Amino acid sequence: MDKKDLFNIAKDAMKHSYAPYSNYNVGAVLLTKNGKIYKGCNVENASYSLTNCAERTALFSAIANGEKEFEAICIVGGKNGVITDYAMPCGACRQVLAEFCEEDFKVFVGINENDIKEFKLGDLLPCSFDKSKLGE
Ligand code: THU
Repeated sequence: MDKKDLFNIAKDAMKHSYAPYSNYNVGAVLLTKNGKIYKGCNVENASYSLTNCAERTALFSAIANGEKEFEAICIVGGKNGVITDYAMPCGACRQVLAEFCEEDFKVFVGINENDIKEFKLGDLLPCSFDKSKLGE
C-alpha cells in the first residue's frame, strides 16, 4: 500500500462526509502496522461543536476494532469535495493521534496522486502533552 493508494482511498472515504454546515468535505484513511486500513470522514452536527473530524472518525473506528499500532494516515479535503489544497489535520486531531501513534507516524496530505506531502506526527505536534506527564 503506497501513498497513492492511500490518497485514493481517502478520496473515496470523503464521499461519505456529512458536512451540511461547512460544506467542507474531508476523508481520511488510517493504515495499521499490520497493513489494515480504516476509513473516516467528517460528521457534522446541528450543534456545531459536536462535529467529528475525519481523522478521529478513522482512528476511533480502528481502536473500536482492536487496533493498537499505526503506521500512517492520509487526509484529503476541500470545499464541496473539490480538493484544491492540503488538508492539514487540526490541533485536536494531532493531539488525539499522538495518544496512539509514535512521533515517526506518517501524515500524508494530498491534492492529487502526484502531489502528496508527507509529515511526521512529531513535527506537527512538537513538545506534546502526553500520558508520560501524568505519572503512574
Ligand atoms: N475537519 C476535519 O475533518 N479534519 C480536520 O483536521 C480539520 C477539519 C472538518 C471538521 C468540519 O466538518 C469541517 O472540516 C470544517 O471545519
